[in-house]
Order: sequence, then structure tokens, then C-alpha cells
Amino acid sequence: MYYLNENIENLNRIFDQNLREPYIRMDLNENPVGLSEDFIKEVLSDVTPQLVAQYPETLPFTERLAEFLGLDGVENICLVNGSAEGVRYVIEAYSRPGGKILAVDPSYAMYRVYSNMYGREFIPIPYDDNLQMSVDRIIEAMNPDIDILVVLNPNNPVGDVYSYEEMDRIVAKAKECEITILIYKAYFYFYPNSFMKYAVENDHVFITRTFSKLFSLAGLRLGYVVGQPEGIEMVQKLCTPHNVNAIAMKFAKAILDKDGMIDELVSKQLEGKQFLVDELQKNGWEVNAKEGNFVFIKTKTDAEEVMKRLKSEAKILVKTYSGIGDFGVCLRVSTGEKYVMEKFIEAMKEIDC
Ligand SMILES: Cc1ncc(COP(=O)(O)O)c(C=O)c1O
Repeated sequence: MYYLNENIENLNRIFDQNLREPYIRMDLNENPVGLSEDFIKEVLSDVTPQLVAQYPETLPFTERLAEFLGLDGVENICLVNGSAEGVRYVIEAYSRPGGKILAVDPSYAMYRVYSNMYGREFIPIPYDDNLQMSVDRIIEAMNPDIDILVVLNPNNPVGDVYSYEEMDRIVAKAKECEITILIYKAYFYFYPNSFMKYAVENDHVFITRTFSKLFSLAGLRLGYVVGQPEGIEMVQKLCTPHNVNAIAMKFAKAILDKDGMIDELVSKQLEGKQFLVDELQKNGWEVNAKEGNFVFIKTKTDAEEVMKRLKSEAKILVKTYSGIGDFGVCLRVSTGEKYVMEKFIEAMKEIDC
């Protein structure tokens, strides 16, 4: 008899093949314009036929990354094809069939998707009406029946963050209950509490990070998991052979190696975001802007309609969201360089009035 895994049959996935290239993309928290063309050309000029023909060599890049992160060595890092892949492996390795995965809600959709994929039970910890997540609520929800707790710092979509003191309490409770913690740091640099020490000093604590956001390499798919060597070995076992590509590593290394490049990316991002928030507020929009490269905007007219018109009239993609305090259905907009934010503001003035 043929067999089909029931979890997969029942799984709800969005397989997005929309053409987004002709638009200004402010819908998925990428860098809407990307790195400078000169930088892209410079890195590509070093892409040789051999580099493309051979399976990727991960060691030199992983060593550079370990040095950059201040880690002891490559044993603390598993490279993955986008950090979303790393999340999947941690869930697969560290939760049991039917086990419970605890995560704040709303949050990144893939925690729930992976829970369903592997037949785990996803347990959301909801934000309150003012979009606050008290650490006490997370701690209360933890008990020895839970296999994994996922916390994001900052959280997407809410953008809230935890302090070291709060994370100390979360880690202490997790130890007591023997819960593996996954700290998701896609938006690191937009809130630079690295929390790296938790993954280095404790077993069963993993951090995932990505080159998709500030580093602007979402199209190349590169992320990593950090943890103690024994845990990283388990995550590595799940990886498909040669799971990260050579060109992605070349770009990532070039960014790490280029003097001042990361600081420049951060300051451009912060400048653009501040400009956007100021202009929106000056022009009468309510904004929820916490940490991260995105803000929420309460539209003056129907948010779904604004989203459609931004797409058709201004060629700008944004996302609608609900569940952000009392904003009702609102817009989530990725932030980036100031000149792109200017285009967005101009379009909003025309469309949402
Ligand atoms: C919280 C969170 N995790 C993961 C991702 C995806 O990251 P990656 O491109 O590294 O797979 C995103 C992207 O929007 C995200 O917001």
C-alpha cells in the first residue's frame, strides 16, 4: 500500500511564486534596495569557474564567522540554508513525536508549520491587548512537559525585546524543566543584545541568525545555528549534504571583511527608519515601531485597499497584519534606506487620505 505522511498531507504551506522583482519590496523584511552595485560587482569578480563547479568549502568561512562572533571555534556553528532551516533542525532533533513547542504568539509562522510537519503540539503564549509580553507569562507557561521554547529577540512581528536579566530568568527556568531553548536572532543588529553567551555557556540553548536581513543576502540563503559543540553536532547531522552555497559564503565573508560596512548598513537602516517614523507621525499616522527593520502603520482608510493600491499605483509591496494592539488590520512595512522611505511616504500621502 502506498504511504503518505499524514502530517505532510494536512500541512498548510504557502508556496509563493509571485513575481516581486518589478516592485519596491517592503513586505518581507528584506533590504528593499540591497547592497551597492559596486560591492556586488567586486564580489562577483572573484567568482571563478572552479568555485561554481566544486562543492562548497565551508571551513574557511566558518572559521571567519567564528572569529567575527568571538566564538571558540567552528564546532560552535552549523551553517544552514537560511536560518528557517536551522529552526527546523532544532525542532526535529530536540522535540519528541507529539512533544510540545512553546512560542510567543504572534510570531514567525514557521514555528507552527514545523510543529505541524513533525506532529508536535504548538503552544502559543499570547501577547496582551497592549502588545506586551511579560517574562512572567513565559516562565509560567514552562513546565517539564515542554520540549522546546522559542523566543525571538527582537520578535517578528511585534518587535519587542528581552533584557539580559529577563533572559537569565528564562534560561534558569528552562534548565529546571529541561526545556531546550531556541533564541531566534534574525533581527540582530536592529537590537544588538547578542545573547551569544547563553548558547556558549549552556547545553540545550541554541541561537539562530541570518544573513538575510541587515546583511541583505536573502536571495543567497545563508544562516547559522550557534550552540555548544555536542548540540551543534546533532543539528549538523540533519543537514542535507553541502547545504550552503559557495557564492553566499563569498558574499557574507566580503561583508565581514570590509572595514566599516556593517556599521554603515546599520546607520543607513536606522536613519531610514527614524525618517519614516517621523514623517508618518508628522502626517497623522499612528505607528508602532519597536526594534527590527519593520514598523506597523494604522492606516487612515481600509488597510487591505491601501496595500492593493500601493502595489498597483506605486509599485510598492507591503503586508497587512492584524493583532497589533488596537490597530485592527494595519500595514507592516519593512524599513530601509531613506530615499526608499521617501518614495513610500509620498505614495501613502496620495493613497491613504
Ligand atoms: C523571525 C524570522 N525568522 C526567520 C526568517 C527567515 O530567515 P531566513 O531568510 O534566514 O531563513 C524571518 C524572515 O522574515 C523571520 O522574520
